[in-house]
Amino acid sequence: MGLTGLFLISFLIIHVGVNSCIFLNDGGETFNAVAHFMSHNWILRFLEIGLFAALILHIVQGLVVWKQNSAARPVKYAVNAPGANSKWYSRSMGLLGTLLLFFLIIHVSKFFLDTKIALYADGGAHDASHNLYAEMKAEFQKWWVVVIYIIGVISLFWHLIHGFQSAFQTLGINHKRYTPLIKIIGIGYTVIVCLLFALMPVAFYAGWIN
Ligand code: HEM
Repeated sequence: MGLTGLFLISFLIIHVGVNSCIFLNDGGETFNAVAHFMSHNWILRFLEIGLFAALILHIVQGLVVWKQNSAARPVKYAVNAPGANSKWYSRSMGLLGTLLLFFLIIHVSKFFLDTKIALYADGGAHDASHNLYAEMKAEFQKWWVVVIYIIGVISLFWHLIHGFQSAFQTLGINHKRYTPLIKIIGIGYTVIVCLLFALMPVAFYAGWIN
């Protein structure tokens, strides 16, 4: 779980980096050029298969861990004060992950599929004229889409706040000196990535970028 988690964490750096080109406010010129390059590069296309494989593996691993945990204690504790020794979000990784999965199904079935349809439908006839930026702009004019994205990013925030440092712990990296540093980097990463993601639908909706 640690390895697939870290792979997904590195994907998010690229994803948020590419998407942040929209903040250049150049009518989507840079963003569309980068997105076009990414969707036509064969190495990246190959990595894309790895990305979806990692995502599915991560979910399956999560389900296995959850099942093992419940099997390890079929009879619940008579007295349990979870708040005394763990944070609510570390105990809610399954719930947060499920919310994220719902968000991802909505998200990928819109943007990712549209890119693929442009690439392959009618022998790629719509590929050159495909404008992903215009699609995002149109999508984020709907308030309820913006709300779904904000809920998705909030789930991602709490999932990553625990998940980032937990990935290192799972890999056996637990050190007096380095673990506090990993925690700080994890919080910094999570705050920056989630703030940028949340700002995207909001900026389109509010008309800060055109
Ligand atoms: C909140 C702001 C976000 C925006 C505006 C956004 C936008 C996009 C767009 C436009 C694409 C299509 C790229 C293409 O096919 O060329 C895409 C793909 C994708 N996004 Fe996002 N995204 C956001 C957040 C997220 C988050 C939070 C996650 C994961 C937790 C995520 C996961 C994915 C995945 C897995 C794909 C398909 C992978 C691929 O294109 O290779 N996105 N996103």
